Amino acid sequence: MTASYPATRLRRPRATSWSRALHRENQLSPADLIWPLFVTEGHGVEEPVGSLPGVSRWSLDGIAKQAKAAVELGIPCLALFPNTQADRRSDDGAEALNPDNLMCRATKAIRDACGDSIGILTDVALDPYTAHGQDGLLDDSGYVLNDATVDILVRQSLNQAEAGADIIAPSDMMDGRIGAIREALEQGLHHNVQIMAYAAKYASAFYGPFRDAVGSSGLLKADKSNYQMDPANSEEALREVALDLAEGADSVMVKPGLPYLDIVRRVKERFEVPVFAYQVSGEYAMIEAAAAAGAGNREALVMETLMAFKRAGCSGILTYHAPLASRILHG
Ligand code: PBG
Repeated sequence: MTASYPATRLRRPRATSWSRALHRENQLSPADLIWPLFVTEGHGVEEPVGSLPGVSRWSLDGIAKQAKAAVELGIPCLALFPNTQADRRSDDGAEALNPDNLMCRATKAIRDACGDSIGILTDVALDPYTAHGQDGLLDDSGYVLNDATVDILVRQSLNQAEAGADIIAPSDMMDGRIGAIREALEQGLHHNVQIMAYAAKYASAFYGPFRDAVGSSGLLKADKSNYQMDPANSEEALREVALDLAEGADSVMVKPGLPYLDIVRRVKERFEVPVFAYQVSGEYAMIEAAAAAGAGNREALVMETLMAFKRAGCSGILTYHAPLASRILHG
Protein backbone atom coordinates (compact mmCIF):
# COMPACT_ATOMS: atom_id res chain seq x y z
CA MET A 1 0.00 0.00 0.00
CA THR A 2 1.36 3.43 -0.92
CA ALA A 3 1.34 6.00 1.85
CA SER A 4 -1.03 8.83 1.15
CA TYR A 5 1.21 11.27 2.99
CA PRO A 6 4.88 12.25 2.68
CA ALA A 7 7.13 10.29 5.04
CA THR A 8 9.07 13.47 5.79
CA ARG A 9 7.53 16.91 5.90
CA LEU A 10 10.35 19.47 5.80
CA ARG A 11 7.69 22.16 5.98
CA ARG A 12 6.67 21.01 9.49
CA PRO A 13 9.52 22.81 11.33
CA ARG A 14 8.93 25.89 9.15
CA ALA A 15 5.35 26.37 10.24
CA THR A 16 5.86 28.84 13.06
CA SER A 17 8.28 31.59 13.81
CA TRP A 18 9.52 30.02 17.11
CA SER A 19 10.20 26.76 15.29
CA ARG A 20 12.06 28.49 12.47
CA ALA A 21 14.20 30.21 15.12
CA LEU A 22 14.86 26.86 16.81
CA HIS A 23 15.98 25.22 13.58
CA ARG A 24 18.06 28.11 12.25
CA GLU A 25 21.53 26.81 11.40
CA ASN A 26 23.41 30.11 11.27
CA GLN A 27 23.24 33.31 13.29
CA LEU A 28 24.24 36.82 12.33
CA SER A 29 25.27 39.29 15.00
CA PRO A 30 26.76 42.80 15.00
CA ALA A 31 29.93 41.09 16.30
CA ASP A 32 30.33 39.55 12.82
CA LEU A 33 30.73 42.92 11.13
CA ILE A 34 33.67 45.12 10.18
CA TRP A 35 32.68 48.62 9.09
CA PRO A 36 34.82 50.33 6.40
CA LEU A 37 35.11 54.10 6.87
CA PHE A 38 36.59 56.79 4.60
CA VAL A 39 38.64 59.58 6.14
CA THR A 40 39.28 63.04 4.73
CA GLU A 41 41.07 66.24 5.82
CA GLY A 42 39.45 69.15 7.62
CA HIS A 43 37.18 69.63 10.59
CA GLY A 44 33.43 69.16 10.67
CA VAL A 45 33.57 67.76 7.14
CA GLU A 46 31.13 65.18 5.85
CA GLU A 47 31.44 64.56 2.10
CA PRO A 48 28.85 62.18 0.65
CA VAL A 49 30.33 59.75 -1.90
CA GLY A 50 28.11 60.09 -4.97
CA SER A 51 28.43 56.51 -6.16
CA LEU A 52 27.86 55.13 -2.62
CA PRO A 53 24.55 56.61 -1.50
CA GLY A 54 24.47 56.83 2.31
CA VAL A 55 28.27 56.62 2.68
CA SER A 56 30.41 59.69 3.43
CA ARG A 57 34.01 60.64 3.94
CA TRP A 58 34.50 62.07 7.43
CA SER A 59 37.12 64.38 8.87
CA LEU A 60 38.85 63.15 12.04
CA ASP A 61 36.26 64.56 14.44
CA GLY A 62 33.50 62.83 12.50
CA ILE A 63 35.46 59.58 12.33
CA ALA A 64 35.76 59.56 16.12
CA LYS A 65 31.99 60.05 16.41
CA GLN A 66 31.30 57.24 13.94
CA ALA A 67 33.65 54.99 15.91
CA LYS A 68 31.77 55.72 19.13
CA ALA A 69 28.49 54.94 17.39
CA ALA A 70 29.97 51.65 16.20
CA VAL A 71 30.94 50.73 19.76
CA GLU A 72 27.36 51.47 20.88
CA LEU A 73 26.06 49.21 18.11
CA GLY A 74 28.36 46.33 19.12
CA ILE A 75 30.43 46.46 15.92
CA PRO A 76 33.84 45.07 16.95
CA CYS A 77 36.10 46.50 14.26
CA LEU A 78 36.51 49.38 11.79
CA ALA A 79 38.45 49.35 8.51
CA LEU A 80 40.02 52.70 7.59
CA PHE A 81 40.68 54.17 4.14
CA PRO A 82 42.09 57.64 3.49
CA ASN A 83 41.14 60.11 0.79
CA THR A 84 44.61 61.55 0.37
CA GLN A 85 44.74 65.11 -0.99
CA ALA A 86 46.02 65.33 -4.55
CA ASP A 87 49.08 67.38 -3.54
CA ARG A 88 50.17 64.62 -1.14
CA ARG A 89 50.06 61.92 -3.83
CA SER A 90 53.21 60.98 -5.72
CA ASP A 91 54.48 58.30 -8.06
CA ASP A 92 56.06 56.40 -5.17
CA GLY A 93 53.20 56.90 -2.70
CA ALA A 94 55.63 58.18 -0.04
CA GLU A 95 52.77 59.72 1.95
CA ALA A 96 51.98 56.15 3.06
CA LEU A 97 55.14 56.31 5.18
CA ASN A 98 54.39 59.65 6.82
CA PRO A 99 53.75 59.04 10.54
CA ASP A 100 51.40 62.01 10.48
CA ASN A 101 49.36 60.94 7.44
CA LEU A 102 45.57 60.85 7.50
CA MET A 103 45.42 57.12 8.32
CA CYS A 104 47.73 57.45 11.32
CA ARG A 105 45.88 60.50 12.62
CA ALA A 106 42.54 58.73 12.16
CA THR A 107 43.84 55.67 14.01
CA LYS A 108 44.94 57.85 16.92
CA ALA A 109 41.69 59.84 16.93
CA ILE A 110 39.69 56.61 17.21
CA ARG A 111 41.98 55.25 19.91
CA ASP A 112 41.62 58.51 21.86
CA ALA A 113 37.83 58.39 21.53
CA CYS A 114 37.25 54.67 22.13
CA GLY A 115 40.34 53.17 23.77
CA ASP A 116 40.47 49.43 23.19
CA SER A 117 36.71 49.02 22.89
CA ILE A 118 36.94 48.71 19.10
CA GLY A 119 39.49 47.17 16.75
CA ILE A 120 41.16 49.24 14.05
CA LEU A 121 42.02 47.53 10.77
CA THR A 122 44.24 49.48 8.42
CA ASP A 123 44.55 48.79 4.71
CA VAL A 124 48.04 48.29 3.34
CA ALA A 125 48.50 49.16 -0.36
CA LEU A 126 49.72 52.29 -2.09
CA ASP A 127 46.70 53.20 -4.22
CA PRO A 128 45.31 55.91 -1.90
CA TYR A 129 48.73 57.61 -2.00
CA THR A 130 49.96 57.19 -5.59
CA ALA A 131 49.48 59.75 -8.35
CA HIS A 132 48.69 56.88 -10.78
CA GLY A 133 46.20 55.04 -8.53
CA GLN A 134 47.97 51.67 -8.77
CA ASP A 135 48.72 49.71 -5.58
CA GLY A 136 52.50 49.72 -5.99
CA LEU A 137 55.55 51.19 -7.72
CA LEU A 138 55.59 51.19 -11.52
CA ASP A 139 58.44 50.47 -13.91
CA ASP A 140 58.79 52.48 -17.13
CA SER A 141 56.23 50.30 -18.90
CA GLY A 142 53.65 50.79 -16.16
CA TYR A 143 54.08 47.29 -14.72
CA VAL A 144 53.68 47.13 -10.92
CA LEU A 145 57.04 46.06 -9.47
CA ASN A 146 56.69 43.31 -6.87
CA ASP A 147 59.71 43.27 -4.59
CA ALA A 148 60.32 47.02 -4.54
CA THR A 149 56.66 47.49 -3.64
CA VAL A 150 56.89 44.92 -0.83
CA ASP A 151 59.74 46.93 0.73
CA ILE A 152 57.47 49.97 0.92
CA LEU A 153 54.47 47.98 2.13
CA VAL A 154 56.59 46.68 5.02
CA ARG A 155 57.40 50.26 6.03
CA GLN A 156 53.77 51.31 5.55
CA SER A 157 52.67 48.47 7.85
CA LEU A 158 55.16 49.47 10.54
CA ASN A 159 53.98 53.07 10.24
CA GLN A 160 50.38 51.94 10.81
CA ALA A 161 51.34 49.64 13.69
CA GLU A 162 53.24 52.49 15.38
CA ALA A 163 50.11 54.62 15.10
CA GLY A 164 48.15 51.92 16.91
CA ALA A 165 46.56 49.70 14.26
CA ASP A 166 45.30 46.36 15.61
CA ILE A 167 44.98 44.52 12.30
CA ILE A 168 47.17 45.11 9.26
CA ALA A 169 45.25 44.19 6.11
CA PRO A 170 47.40 44.08 2.97
CA SER A 171 45.13 44.51 -0.06
CA ASP A 172 47.86 44.90 -2.66
CA MET A 173 48.30 41.27 -3.87
CA MET A 174 52.11 41.45 -4.17
CA ASP A 175 53.86 38.09 -3.76
CA GLY A 176 55.64 37.52 -0.47
CA ARG A 177 54.32 40.55 1.36
CA ILE A 178 52.69 38.71 4.26
CA GLY A 179 55.95 37.04 5.32
CA ALA A 180 57.91 40.26 4.96
CA ILE A 181 55.36 42.26 6.96
CA ARG A 182 55.10 39.60 9.70
CA GLU A 183 58.86 39.52 10.08
CA ALA A 184 59.06 43.30 10.38
CA LEU A 185 56.20 43.44 12.88
CA GLU A 186 57.93 40.84 15.07
CA GLN A 187 61.23 42.69 14.90
CA GLY A 188 59.42 45.91 15.75
CA LEU A 189 57.92 44.21 18.84
CA HIS A 190 54.39 44.35 17.43
CA HIS A 191 53.81 40.68 18.29
CA ASN A 192 50.09 41.13 18.85
CA VAL A 193 49.35 43.14 15.75
CA GLN A 194 47.35 40.79 13.56
CA ILE A 195 47.52 40.34 9.80
CA MET A 196 44.31 39.80 7.88
CA ALA A 197 45.50 38.99 4.36
CA TYR A 198 43.41 39.96 1.39
CA ALA A 199 44.42 36.51 0.16
CA ALA A 200 42.01 35.93 -2.70
CA LYS A 201 41.40 39.38 -4.11
CA TYR A 202 40.03 39.44 -7.63
CA ALA A 203 40.48 42.01 -10.40
CA SER A 204 36.86 43.07 -10.11
CA ALA A 205 34.50 45.53 -11.72
CA PHE A 206 32.82 45.90 -8.32
CA TYR A 207 35.44 48.30 -6.88
CA GLY A 208 34.36 51.40 -8.81
CA PRO A 209 32.63 53.38 -6.04
CA PHE A 210 35.50 52.66 -3.61
CA ARG A 211 37.96 54.21 -6.07
CA ASP A 212 35.73 57.29 -6.16
CA ALA A 213 35.71 57.37 -2.35
CA VAL A 214 39.52 57.32 -2.00
CA GLY A 215 39.94 59.62 -5.00
CA SER A 216 41.88 57.23 -7.25
CA SER A 217 39.35 56.44 -9.98
CA GLY A 218 40.22 59.47 -12.11
CA LEU A 219 43.93 58.67 -11.85
CA LEU A 220 43.91 55.01 -12.92
CA LYS A 221 45.09 54.41 -16.48
CA ALA A 222 44.99 50.61 -16.50
CA ASP A 223 43.22 47.82 -14.67
CA LYS A 224 44.87 45.76 -11.93
CA SER A 225 44.80 42.36 -13.57
CA ASN A 226 48.55 41.82 -13.51
CA TYR A 227 48.38 41.52 -9.71
CA GLN A 228 44.76 40.92 -8.68
CA MET A 229 43.26 37.49 -9.48
CA ASP A 230 41.40 36.40 -12.58
CA PRO A 231 37.68 35.97 -11.75
CA ALA A 232 37.81 32.69 -13.68
CA ASN A 233 40.09 31.04 -11.10
CA SER A 234 39.47 29.16 -7.90
CA GLU A 235 42.36 26.65 -7.56
CA GLU A 236 44.64 29.68 -7.58
CA ALA A 237 42.71 31.18 -4.65
CA LEU A 238 43.59 28.11 -2.58
CA ARG A 239 47.27 28.57 -3.44
CA GLU A 240 47.09 32.24 -2.46
CA VAL A 241 45.49 31.36 0.87
CA ALA A 242 48.00 28.54 1.55
CA LEU A 243 50.91 30.92 0.96
CA ASP A 244 49.51 33.72 3.10
CA LEU A 245 48.85 31.31 5.97
CA ALA A 246 52.33 29.81 5.67
CA GLU A 247 53.77 33.34 5.74
CA GLY A 248 51.97 34.14 9.00
CA ALA A 249 48.50 35.54 8.23
CA ASP A 250 46.14 35.26 11.22
CA SER A 251 43.06 35.33 9.02
CA VAL A 252 42.32 35.50 5.31
CA MET A 253 39.88 37.45 3.22
CA VAL A 254 38.01 36.79 0.00
CA LYS A 255 37.04 39.83 -2.05
CA PRO A 256 34.58 40.74 -3.55
CA GLY A 257 31.99 38.89 -1.48
CA LEU A 258 28.71 37.71 -2.89
CA PRO A 259 29.93 36.67 -6.38
CA TYR A 260 32.76 34.68 -4.70
CA LEU A 261 30.96 32.70 -1.98
CA ASP A 262 32.13 29.47 -3.64
CA ILE A 263 35.69 30.58 -2.87
CA VAL A 264 34.79 31.31 0.76
CA ARG A 265 33.37 27.81 1.10
CA ARG A 266 36.35 26.11 -0.53
CA VAL A 267 38.81 28.05 1.61
CA LYS A 268 36.88 27.31 4.80
CA GLU A 269 36.64 23.59 4.07
CA ARG A 270 40.26 23.24 3.02
CA PHE A 271 41.99 25.30 5.73
CA GLU A 272 39.61 25.62 8.70
CA VAL A 273 40.93 29.09 9.54
CA PRO A 274 39.06 32.36 10.11
CA VAL A 275 37.79 33.51 6.71
CA PHE A 276 36.41 36.98 6.11
CA ALA A 277 34.69 38.38 3.04
CA TYR A 278 34.49 41.95 1.83
CA GLN A 279 31.07 42.91 0.53
CA VAL A 280 32.59 45.61 -1.64
CA SER A 281 31.44 49.03 -2.75
CA GLY A 282 29.87 47.87 -6.02
CA GLU A 283 27.85 45.25 -4.15
CA TYR A 284 26.64 47.90 -1.71
CA ALA A 285 25.75 50.22 -4.61
CA MET A 286 23.88 47.41 -6.34
CA ILE A 287 21.71 46.72 -3.30
CA GLU A 288 21.04 50.44 -2.82
CA ALA A 289 20.13 50.83 -6.49
CA ALA A 290 17.80 47.84 -6.39
CA ALA A 291 16.07 49.19 -3.29
CA ALA A 292 15.81 52.70 -4.75
CA ALA A 293 14.28 51.28 -7.92
CA GLY A 294 11.70 49.42 -5.86
CA ALA A 295 13.12 46.07 -6.98
CA GLY A 296 13.48 44.80 -3.43
CA ASN A 297 13.23 45.74 0.22
CA ARG A 298 16.50 47.29 1.29
CA GLU A 299 16.65 45.86 4.81
CA ALA A 300 15.64 42.39 3.65
CA LEU A 301 18.22 42.45 0.84
CA VAL A 302 20.94 43.51 3.27
CA MET A 303 20.12 40.89 5.88
CA GLU A 304 19.76 38.07 3.36
CA THR A 305 23.12 38.82 1.76
CA LEU A 306 24.89 39.06 5.13
CA MET A 307 23.41 35.76 6.27
CA ALA A 308 24.61 34.21 2.99
CA PHE A 309 28.18 35.06 4.01
CA LYS A 310 27.72 33.32 7.36
CA ARG A 311 26.20 30.27 5.67
CA ALA A 312 29.15 30.10 3.26
CA GLY A 313 31.52 29.90 6.23
CA CYS A 314 32.60 33.46 6.99
CA SER A 315 33.77 34.42 10.47
CA GLY A 316 32.90 37.98 9.62
CA ILE A 317 32.03 40.41 6.83
CA LEU A 318 33.39 43.80 5.88
CA THR A 319 30.33 45.77 4.83
CA TYR A 320 29.27 49.39 4.40
CA HIS A 321 25.88 48.22 5.67
CA ALA A 322 27.36 47.39 9.11
CA PRO A 323 25.52 50.14 11.05
CA LEU A 324 22.19 49.47 9.32
CA ALA A 325 22.49 45.72 9.86
CA SER A 326 23.46 46.20 13.50
CA ARG A 327 20.48 48.46 14.12
CA ILE A 328 18.19 45.87 12.53
CA LEU A 329 19.73 43.08 14.62
CA HIS A 330 19.22 45.11 17.79
CA GLY A 331 15.56 45.38 16.79
C1 PBG B 1 42.88 48.89 -2.87
C2 PBG B 1 41.57 48.47 -2.33
C3 PBG B 1 40.41 48.40 -3.11
C4 PBG B 1 39.37 48.06 -2.26
C5 PBG B 1 39.90 47.90 -0.96
N1 PBG B 1 41.29 48.16 -1.03
C6 PBG B 1 40.20 48.71 -4.55
C7 PBG B 1 41.10 48.20 -5.57
O1 PBG B 1 41.75 47.16 -5.41
O2 PBG B 1 41.18 48.86 -6.60
C8 PBG B 1 37.96 47.92 -2.70
C9 PBG B 1 36.91 47.97 -1.67
C10 PBG B 1 35.55 48.24 -2.20
O3 PBG B 1 35.29 48.27 -3.42
O4 PBG B 1 34.66 48.44 -1.36
N2 PBG B 1 44.02 48.42 -2.39
